Amino acid sequence: MSRLVVASNRVAVPQGEGAMPAGGLAVAVDAALKGRKGLWFGWSGEISQREATGVHMIEQGPVTYALQGLSSDDYDAYYNGYCNRVLWPLFHYRIDLMKFDEGQMEAYLRVNRLFAQRLADMIRPDDVIWVHDYHLIPMARLLRERGLRNKIGFFLHIPCPSPDILGTLPHHLEVIGALGHYDLVGFQTSADRDNFDRYVERYLPDRAVKTAVFPVSIETETFTLQAEEAVHSDFVQEIRDSLGGGQLIIGVDRLDYSKGITNRLEAFEWLLEHHPEWEGNVTYLQIAPKSRSAVPEYLEMDQFISMKMGQLNGRFGSPSWTPLRYVNRNFSREVLAGLYRASDVALVTPFRDGMNLVAKEFLAAQDPEDPGALVLSEFAGAAAELEAGALIVNPYDTHAIGRSIDMALRMSVAERKRRFVKSMQALEGNDIHAWSERFLTVLEDRRPETVVPLQERKAAGASNSGIAYETPRPRIAASASQGVRAEQA
Ligand code: G6P
Repeated sequence: MSRLVVASNRVAVPQGEGAMPAGGLAVAVDAALKGRKGLWFGWSGEISQREATGVHMIEQGPVTYALQGLSSDDYDAYYNGYCNRVLWPLFHYRIDLMKFDEGQMEAYLRVNRLFAQRLADMIRPDDVIWVHDYHLIPMARLLRERGLRNKIGFFLHIPCPSPDILGTLPHHLEVIGALGHYDLVGFQTSADRDNFDRYVERYLPDRAVKTAVFPVSIETETFTLQAEEAVHSDFVQEIRDSLGGGQLIIGVDRLDYSKGITNRLEAFEWLLEHHPEWEGNVTYLQIAPKSRSAVPEYLEMDQFISMKMGQLNGRFGSPSWTPLRYVNRNFSREVLAGLYRASDVALVTPFRDGMNLVAKEFLAAQDPEDPGALVLSEFAGAAAELEAGALIVNPYDTHAIGRSIDMALRMSVAERKRRFVKSMQALEGNDIHAWSERFLTVLEDRRPETVVPLQERKAAGASNSGIAYETPRPRIAASASQGVRAEQA
């Protein structure tokens, strides 16, 4: 089996019992590399005042971690700037928050060139390269320029909006268009892939890009076992004891405006206003590790949420009951597994989310004889697989979220079991190992027959399977300002 080389901005170097870096990417890649010979290259998390230093290598079992530092200028312009104030809001449908700056785009390309050079020096001819997420989109083009002929795949962990939105990014062909240099581009849902296929049709008409859907998942079985054990820990028991027999609602999110925490708070406020019977009988625990705190939009949201939490507790709480508990710490997967199992309801209500692994982890952690209920946004990628079992809500409709919370808190055990069984069928059919195996199988052309032309896919209707589809090569019709326009074949 060829060596798997993973490149991503964030690298999760194992740190014993410590907490994993927040975010689905680190969790998924970490699980995908387990037990496999591989190399994981990316940012070390270190920022130095001077120029970036060389690569720091750490060997851990079959995996080598290759870590590259960033200079503080690059950290500001590449990571805080272009990645998190341009690409992140753009891909999450928030062009109102996109702050484009040409200098930051230059820094993005500069860091990608540095990463590509460092990575190219470590690549062997038969390695398979898998690049993850929006930080490193130009990697395939840059590696090819350095003479590499290896298979190179890309997986986008975040949503992919329509070409109308992607096209608002100044110089988008240079960045988004660079996805056309990969042998395979993977997406979380068929809606994401369809949007990108339409981008290719419109803006890259002379390229055939192989695209496919691979909904990212979790280590379902392992997580269930961890939850069974962790629910008996002193930590989790103390929390349950502190509820005075009331129910527990849980939310776990990186503190990010895409997660819809503000609307969730409004929904909880609506619940307490319209259903006073819950006063003293329900507690909402929101765990929200801070994220990207140097980015102004994150700082503003952090302050707003803290204020709102305080207001709600002040308004509805009593000396013996605090309706909301708010924690900015990051917890280990084991602790989270125990907390999910001890919870009655989970709120996963992002405005947009690539997948949202919290939804899947919450379900995997449940006791099949007395499972909790999941309130899930229709705009989380996870909704495509979990819609039959979850209470699906529009995150912009705070009253509807409030009504769903009420319904979840009152749901009979029979109904919860029925929904749980449906959700688990989806999870058991696609765990994290199946996810990475399916991506690599298609990337390495081990099943070339799975490539279905776009026209056939359109005829067959949308599907959320891992089957790869090639965008067609449309006839070139005329030149336009954005390059060449396509006439549909
Ligand atoms: C999301 C992104 C990841 C990112 C993670 C944490 O899950 O898809 O690429 O690593 O958030 O964000 P951070 O900026 O801390 O790496």
